[in-house]
Amino acid sequence: MKTADAHQLGAALVDWHSRSGRHDLPWQRDRTPYRVWVSEIMLQQTQVATVIPYFERFVSRFPDIASLADAPVDEVLHLWTGLGYYARARNLHRAAQRVRDAHGGVFPTAFEDVAALPGVGRSTAGAILALACDQRHPILDGNVKRVLARCFGIEGSPAERAVEQRLWALAESATPAEAVATYTQAVMDLGATVCTRRRPACALCPLAERCSARRSGRQHEIPAPKPRARGAARPSRRCWLLFVRDAEGGIFLERRPERGIWGGLWCPPEFDSATAAAAWARSGFPKWRGSPQALTPVSHAFTHFDLEIVPLLLEGAPPPSAAAQAARAAGIPGVADSAPSPAGLWYNPRAADGPAAVGLPAPVRLLLEGLTSGIF
Ligand code: ADE
Repeated sequence: MKTADAHQLGAALVDWHSRSGRHDLPWQRDRTPYRVWVSEIMLQQTQVATVIPYFERFVSRFPDIASLADAPVDEVLHLWTGLGYYARARNLHRAAQRVRDAHGGVFPTAFEDVAALPGVGRSTAGAILALACDQRHPILDGNVKRVLARCFGIEGSPAERAVEQRLWALAESATPAEAVATYTQAVMDLGATVCTRRRPACALCPLAERCSARRSGRQHEIPAPKPRARGAARPSRRCWLLFVRDAEGGIFLERRPERGIWGGLWCPPEFDSATAAAAWARSGFPKWRGSPQALTPVSHAFTHFDLEIVPLLLEGAPPPSAAAQAARAAGIPGVADSAPSPAGLWYNPRAADGPAAVGLPAPVRLLLEGLTSGIF
C-alpha cells in the first residue's frame, strides 16, 4: 500500500471492526476516561485475556480516581500481583494523586495534561482520549507499529528513531476524522488478533489485498527486529531468596527498593550467593538453629532476561518469648520471637484474618504457596 493512501485504512478497519472486532470487553462498558485509562495501562505489554480479571478486581476496589489516589500504594500493588511491570501500578497511583491534587479529581481531557501523567506516553494518551472521548489522536503501540510497517512495507526496525517517526506520520494519516474510537480499537485488535508477530492470519485480514508485506511474502521479515537483538543470546541471572519461616508459619519479607525489578513489592531477602544468605541469617537471626536449606530452583522470564531463583529455607525459630507473643498479638510486624530481627513484615499465608494485602512478585507468591502447602 502506498503511503499516500494511508487515509483509506481507517474506513476498512472501522468496517472490519463492526463485523469482527471485540465489543464485550469490560472497559468498553461504562466507558469513562478513568476506566479506559486503567485498562490501557494494564494492557501495556499484557494480553486482553490476562487483563480482564485484574481489571474487574481493580475497578471494583477502586471505582474512581479518589479511591485510588487515597489508597495505600501497598494495596494497589497487591491488586497488581501477577500482572508484572509493577512500575505501571506505582505510576497509576501517583497519577491518580496528581489528578486529585492538580485537576480537582477530574480526569483531564486535554492531550498535554494526559500525556504528562506518570506512565502515560504519547500513544497511551492518544488511545485514552480517542476511546473515551472520541478525540482524534493517532496511536502507535507495538501492535499498531507492526500493522503499519507491514501494510506500507516499512523497512528497518521500529526501534530506530527515523523508522518510528515514519510510522507516526502514517498513524496520523490513517486516523480518520470520524469514528475515531472504533478505528482506534480496531487497529489495536487487528494487531493483537490477526496481524500477529509469528503467524499472521492474512486470510482474515481486511487489509490483505493492499498489504505490502503480504504481497511480497515478507510478513516474517517486516517489521525488522531491533538491531542488537539479532542473534544476541538472552541474558540470564541467578539469585538466592531466603525464606525465613517462624514457628507459626510466618515468612519474613522486605519491601524492595522502588528502582530495579519488583520495585515496591514485598519479597524474601535476595542475595548473590547461598553463602551471603547464610551470613545474613546468622547476624539477623542469631538465636535461630540450623542453616538455610536449598530448595528446587525455579525460573522466571522477564522481557530482557531470565532469572533463576534458588529458594533457601531457614527454619528453627526458638519458642516465642512472652514479649514477642504479646507484640505479635498486638499485630506489630518485624518482631521475631526472642531474637532481634531485621525490620520487615512477617507474612503468614495462613493467617486467620487473611495474609497482609501487599504486592508480591508472581514467583514469590508461587513459592509461598508451595511452602505453605508442603510441596517443598
Ligand atoms: N492493547 C492496548 N490497548 C488495547 C485495547 N484497548 N484493546 C486491545 N488491545 C490493547
